Amino acid sequence: MDFRLAVIPGDGIGPEVVNQALKVLERVGSVYGHRFSIKKLMAGGCAIDATGDPLPEDTLRECKNSDAVLLGAVGGPKWDNLPGNKRPEKALLGLRGGLGLYANLRPAVVYEDLKDACLLKSRNSSANIDIMVVRELTGGIYFGERGRRVTLNGEQAFDTEVYSVMEVERIARMAFDIARKRRRKVTSVDKANILESSRLWREVVEKTAKDYPDVELNHMYVDNAAMQLIRDPSQFDVIVTTNMFGDILSDEASMITGSIGMLPSASLAEGNFGLYEPIHGSAPDIAGQDKANPLATILSAAMMLRYSFNLPKEADAVENAVEKVLKEGYRTGDIMSPGKILVGTEKIGDKVAEYIR
Ligand code: IPM
Ligand code: MG
Repeated sequence: MDFRLAVIPGDGIGPEVVNQALKVLERVGSVYGHRFSIKKLMAGGCAIDATGDPLPEDTLRECKNSDAVLLGAVGGPKWDNLPGNKRPEKALLGLRGGLGLYANLRPAVVYEDLKDACLLKSRNSSANIDIMVVRELTGGIYFGERGRRVTLNGEQAFDTEVYSVMEVERIARMAFDIARKRRRKVTSVDKANILESSRLWREVVEKTAKDYPDVELNHMYVDNAAMQLIRDPSQFDVIVTTNMFGDILSDEASMITGSIGMLPSASLAEGNFGLYEPIHGSAPDIAGQDKANPLATILSAAMMLRYSFNLPKEADAVENAVEKVLKEGYRTGDIMSPGKILVGTEKIGDKVAEYIR
């Protein structure tokens, strides 16, 4: 089969980790007989430098003309002092809104061979950490009305959390559908003791759950969820939550696993379209030194094969190759431990490609 793939390497280590994922995809193509036509596009800091705009119009247009988007990372200190709407992060929000990427899937798993890195190893709960955070991505306070105004008491700023029934229902369905392929448990996280938008969220999730009697649902306030994630992460299967709570909880969940360089993500639109990216940032301090861990980006490409291209066998092959690389002892610096084989970005990418047969 032929697939059109938009690729946004971005800034910092983005280009080098993306190259490894493309190498792996090429290998998948030759082993399984698929063709990925690749269009490289600019967004983020490099786009600001080249065009003044973090998300040039033709990048968004070309993404819309593709079957999926693979993104490295955007941003860096060079662009940190620009005003809000000129910052590299603006590209991410523009892509999410512009492409209708309403569901953000962020798995947090502890790899069997990386258990030592898990921050909770002393409590021996690392064994069962396999959480999927399903974050609503195109609504809530990220996209609500914001601004400043001058009152009698001086200047004020405000941001608004807004959710519609439709937005909550579609993300809830996504979470329940995913839970059905996992351990059939959904925890919905909100702040319904305070926020009206959370009370609507809870009502709609409850109602949607009626269509999924085989999936267990519970609700948690976000402050409690933040605590429970540390206390006993193995109690969670799928967590579904709002844009901002998901932003915070997904960072927390990823850090518990201790392998942030390993974690992929998918941002899905209606239909099969999606954008795939590692959850780590652009790590400008190690950019261009062949030190970055490309496995999160490679695993993001695996999610792309699974969710956008409907190629589960090929996705399994990539994920198994990554596990084999770890089993054989190959490690980049971020996941290195005594007795293992320290390799660079290129080499570990070569190994993954080699193990796809
Ligand atoms: C993320 C990031 C972004 C977000 C920033 C960079 C805009 O933190 O993808 O989690 O807040 O969504
Ligand atoms: Mg974040």
